[in-house]
Amino acid sequence: MSKVVIFGIGQIAEVIHFYLTSDSDHDVVAFTVDREYLTKQQFKDLPVVPFEDIERIYDPLLYKMIIPISYKKMNKIRAEKYYEAKKKGYEFISYISSRAAYYGTPVGENTIIFENNVIQPFTKIGNNTILWSGNHIGHHAEVGDHCFIASQVVVSGAAKIKDYTFIGVNATIRDSVIIERENLIGAGSVILRDTEAKAVYTQRGTIQLEKNSSEIRRI
Ligand SMILES: CC(C)(COP(=O)(O)OP(=O)(O)OC[C@H]1O[C@@H](n2cnc3c(N)ncnc32)[C@H](O)[C@@H]1OP(=O)(O)O)[C@@H](O)C(=O)NCCC(=O)NCCS
Repeated sequence: MSKVVIFGIGQIAEVIHFYLTSDSDHDVVAFTVDREYLTKQQFKDLPVVPFEDIERIYDPLLYKMIIPISYKKMNKIRAEKYYEAKKKGYEFISYISSRAAYYGTPVGENTIIFENNVIQPFTKIGNNTILWSGNHIGHHAEVGDHCFIASQVVVSGAAKIKDYTFIGVNATIRDSVIIERENLIGAGSVILRDTEAKAVYTQRGTIQLEKNSSEIRRI
């Protein structure tokens, strides 16, 4: 059990506060944001303190941190804050939902794994990575640092996802494929070959018929 400060007062901070208080033995004590975003003194009945002064208010020897920032700027904002907090001397908790299928895979720090993820054996997950709900991480697959994997993504066995990659909802990664650094893999993509660094993949999306729904005969 650790005493924990959450970075942020937005929706993701609210979500992680919910999971930590309902599904972990950690004690959330405060929130922190950059001073320019300090729009309220309290959030969830806890103090909100400026990140610039955090180490003077919550001693890094006594308190840990979690930084659940989104995938904005290809996860680089979250990485930047993670390294800043590390420099201030903080250690991080990670959160793995009790409802994830998890068999002791090594998981880095400041990493979040929500419910219904299936993390098969012999996998590895890095630091500062977020797996939103319901993904499949197949046996011997690796997910690097600073990644964000949205819901219902299939990462097949022995695939490798390199650092700073974003994978959108319902994407499929074939077994043993290597996803290079900083890839943006859009919702519903199907990746069957190794990728190039910084590449973007996207589907065109479902077509809209030139009819309205009352003109379809069998429904
Ligand atoms: C791939 C994805 C990121 C593209 O996002 P977007 O908001 O459409 O991107 P933008 O509008 O900034 O488009 C950037 C450029 O790519 C082009 N582009 C986007 N989708 C395209 C497509 N399907 N085909 C061709 N070009 C496309 C745009 O036209 C634009 O070109 P321009 O700069 O010349 O105008 C988006 O479709 C996606 O899949 N997002 C993930 C959603 C998701 O999983 N969310 C869950 C979060 S928890």
